[in-house]
Amino acid sequence: MQKVTTVSQLREQIKQWRKQGLRVAFVPTMGNLHAGHIKLVEKARELADKVVVSIFVNPTQFGEGEDFESYPRTELADQDKLIQAQADLLFLPTVFEVYPNKATTSISVGKLSTLHCGAHRMGHFDGVATVVTKLFNMVQPDIAIFGEKDFQQLAVIRKMVQDLNIAVEIIGVQTERESDGLAMSSRNGYLTEEERSTAPKLYQALRKAQQDVLQGKKFKIIEQEQKTLLEKIGFKIDYFSICKADNLQLASENEEALVILAAAKLGKPRLIDNIFFSK
Ligand code: PAJ
Repeated sequence: MQKVTTVSQLREQIKQWRKQGLRVAFVPTMGNLHAGHIKLVEKARELADKVVVSIFVNPTQFGEGEDFESYPRTELADQDKLIQAQADLLFLPTVFEVYPNKATTSISVGKLSTLHCGAHRMGHFDGVATVVTKLFNMVQPDIAIFGEKDFQQLAVIRKMVQDLNIAVEIIGVQTERESDGLAMSSRNGYLTEEERSTAPKLYQALRKAQQDVLQGKKFKIIEQEQKTLLEKIGFKIDYFSICKADNLQLASENEEALVILAAAKLGKPRLIDNIFFSK
């Protein structure tokens, strides 16, 4: 696996591959890689000739008081995992390489960015949309792979690509879970042992809510019951909402394609998860 840190080195390699007519897949990450990230790399390998992975902890998507400084940086272990997964190129830029001057342009996807996580993390999705656009412009991949675990992020990126005619095909990959159902996340490492044993209850609540939806229970009642249950065992809920799968707005009972989105703090980390299905 090649490792590059500058945009010009990156472009040089991509240019060579393009000349050879090779199809390039891109997996953007913030590192501290786990099996969920590796699933994205495997999908990329399946769908393209060359796989580029970026590791960049993007300051512009962290709010004040969030964990930008303390976000786990485990580059050596990450590199080993990427070699194992047979990625072709690792792009590891510095903050200065990505933001060399005080940029005044940013990408804002609108309404979709203001709901759910967007309402609790002001400016978060503008930071994500902007850095992903910049990374797309640097790599110019044919396809890019994202996890369904960050369902709203995936929706924001799909909308942005569509609205701005960006020539990248976006592929979503199923959430990778621990054996007890907890969605894998770089932030799970912040959980204490006791919190770690409580954490899978978030996914259990989502599954119970899904069953209740399928049995015709009122959405407001389902949401309230699960929130109360989770609060009782120590979660601080940001949202637990039954939404329309396409635009993520609150769903009514006659909607068919649904996603239940949840985010809650458990001790230090904020866990997010979702479940989507059709009635
Ligand atoms: P990060 O949290 O490192 O996630 C990188 C990619 O891995 C995202 O597409 C995310 O949805 C996916 N992912 C994370 N956990 C997963 C799991 N358990 N199963 C499947 N996929 C999973 O998301 C970001 O970084 C950043 O916002 C980024 C897009 C890189 C922009 O800075």
